[in-house]
Order: sequence, then C-alpha cells, then structure tokens
Amino acid sequence: MSTDAPSPRSAIEALRGAQNLTDLYPVLNANRMTAGWHKIRPSLWPEPRTEFSPMHWRYAEGKLALDQAGRWMSTEQAERRNLILYNPVGDNDYATLRTIIVAYQMIRPGEHARAHWHTPNALRFVLDAGEGVYTVVDGVELPMRPGDVLLTPGDCWHSHYNHGDRDAYWIDFLDVPLVHLLEPMFVEHYPGGDQPVTSRPAESEFMYPANWIDTQLDRQTEPVAQSLAQGGIRQFELPSASHIPTLQLRFTRIEAGKVFEPPRSTANRVYAVARGRGHAQIGSLASNWSAFDVLAAPTWHPIRIAADEDTLLFEVSDEAVMRAIGMFREGRPA
Ligand SMILES: [Fe+2]
Repeated sequence: MSTDAPSPRSAIEALRGAQNLTDLYPVLNANRMTAGWHKIRPSLWPEPRTEFSPMHWRYAEGKLALDQAGRWMSTEQAERRNLILYNPVGDNDYATLRTIIVAYQMIRPGEHARAHWHTPNALRFVLDAGEGVYTVVDGVELPMRPGDVLLTPGDCWHSHYNHGDRDAYWIDFLDVPLVHLLEPMFVEHYPGGDQPVTSRPAESEFMYPANWIDTQLDRQTEPVAQSLAQGGIRQFELPSASHIPTLQLRFTRIEAGKVFEPPRSTANRVYAVARGRGHAQIGSLASNWSAFDVLAAPTWHPIRIAADEDTLLFEVSDEAVMRAIGMFREGRPA
C-alpha cells in the first residue's frame, strides 16, 4: 500500500501542532490544501487576459510546406496530411487559440483521407481544388470547390477524396481544444477505412457554396455593429449553429480602402482571407496579409483590419460558446 499520503491521524496531529500560520501552510500543502488568502497566483482579474498571442500564418509558406511533405508523406501513412497552425505559448504545439485549432490540409490526386468520426466539430474552407474533390459526411458526397464551406459536425463519419488531376488545398477549423478542456473526447475509425457513398445531392445542409455566400452578402445592407457604420463593410453569419453549436462562422466583406474594426470581445477569433490584400493590427501584431493567409485574434485583443483591395474574410470564432454560457462581452475598440 502506498504511504505517500499522510494518514488522517497524522494530518490531525500536524494541524493541531501548528503554532501559527507559518506552521500551518506546509501542513496544508502536505494534505493537498492551500489557503485561499495565501494563493501564489490570483484566480480573478479585472478583464480577460490570455497567454495566447495574435498570429499571422502565410499561405505561401503553408502551401510550400504541404507540397514538400507530399513528396514523402501519403494520406495512407498520415491520418490527415495537415499542417497545424499552433500558438507558441508554453508547451502548446496544437491549439491555434484557446478553443480552436486551424490547419492547412492538402490531398493529392488519387488519394483519400479515410473515414472516422469524433466528438469535436470540424469544418473546411476550400482554397484550391479542381473537379473531382469530395468530402463525404455520413454517406453524403459533397463536392469541394474553391470558396465553399463544408461542415463535418461532431459524431458524423467523414472522409475526403481527390479523384481529380491536381492537388487540392483547404483550411480545417475544429473545436478540439475546447473538447480537450472539457474532456468529452471520443473518436472511432471506420472499419476498412472507406465509408460507402449513399447520395450525391446538389444541395446539402452541410455545404455553403461560394456563390450562395456572395449572394447573401449582397443582400446585407445594415451594419451589424455600430463601429462598422462607416459603410463599405457587409457581414453574413452562416446558419450553421444547429449543426455546429460551438463555432460561429461569419463572412465579412470589406471594400478596398475601408477598415474593419470590430468591438473587442471575449470571443477568440480566427480569420481566413478568402480574397484580398491589406494590413492587420491585432494587439501588438502588425502584418500585411494576402489571400488564404490566416490571422488569429485571442480574446479581448483589439482588431483592426484594413483592406487595400476588395476583401472577403471568413471568420471562425467561439462567440457561440461565449454567448451560450452567458460570457460574451464586447468593449470599445482600444
Ligand atoms: Fe476528422
């Protein structure tokens, strides 16, 4: 029997033997207790703070890295050929922000990424794909075309195929870090790896085509926030909450010369540049971005995104989680 933990009797004796607080503290520690008035670290602070940093990843580098890896690593060997965009905080080598992971993924002609399901929710924003590239969600085959968003909600079987003649690229967004925090992780691999295709619909609740998204943006006339009332900025939120309740998906269209400066908020936000070019200031990060780059804005950081060209941003955030638990707050732009 382990003798690491003090016996109840010795704890009582040690507590009784303390003559002052200085005597008491080590006895508490030895019994896995600590005094709330004597904490080493504060547990409350006046406004959100995070160890995560604002980040910018360039597609030119991500694509080249995947192209290089594609010479040596097949999808047969790798569960997925993806490039994780991690935030260099502590020993983290996975999460992009506290609740969200983002990755560039590539699949070569003739390859497929085998089927599995897991409790974390996932979605894809397609960057570059020719004809013949598909994601299958619970047997439903969905084409992957540039500019499309495809959902692979938690618990759904999903797999990816490239029957075309050139490499296909997309960005993955998942809530895995949130699941890591809450711990309800399950994953299962499809027996034999290949789920059967049962339908090939023209439309699906799991697929938002690029031209449909553009049409929805054309219809938006009112700014969604007072700080966007300058004009030249339109936003549209994808109606995806019933499928993926943890991630809010929003497109922001910014005319050339305009500045997108949303209220800072408790949400963690990632922006994928669907098209355009410009400059971003996120907290202390100042960077010039271009198409298919990824920007990460941790909670409560001021965000200022200036468009040099007509721009479309795809934003994935945990605003849905913050709202659901009553902890969404907005502040003034800093
Ligand atoms: Fe997956």
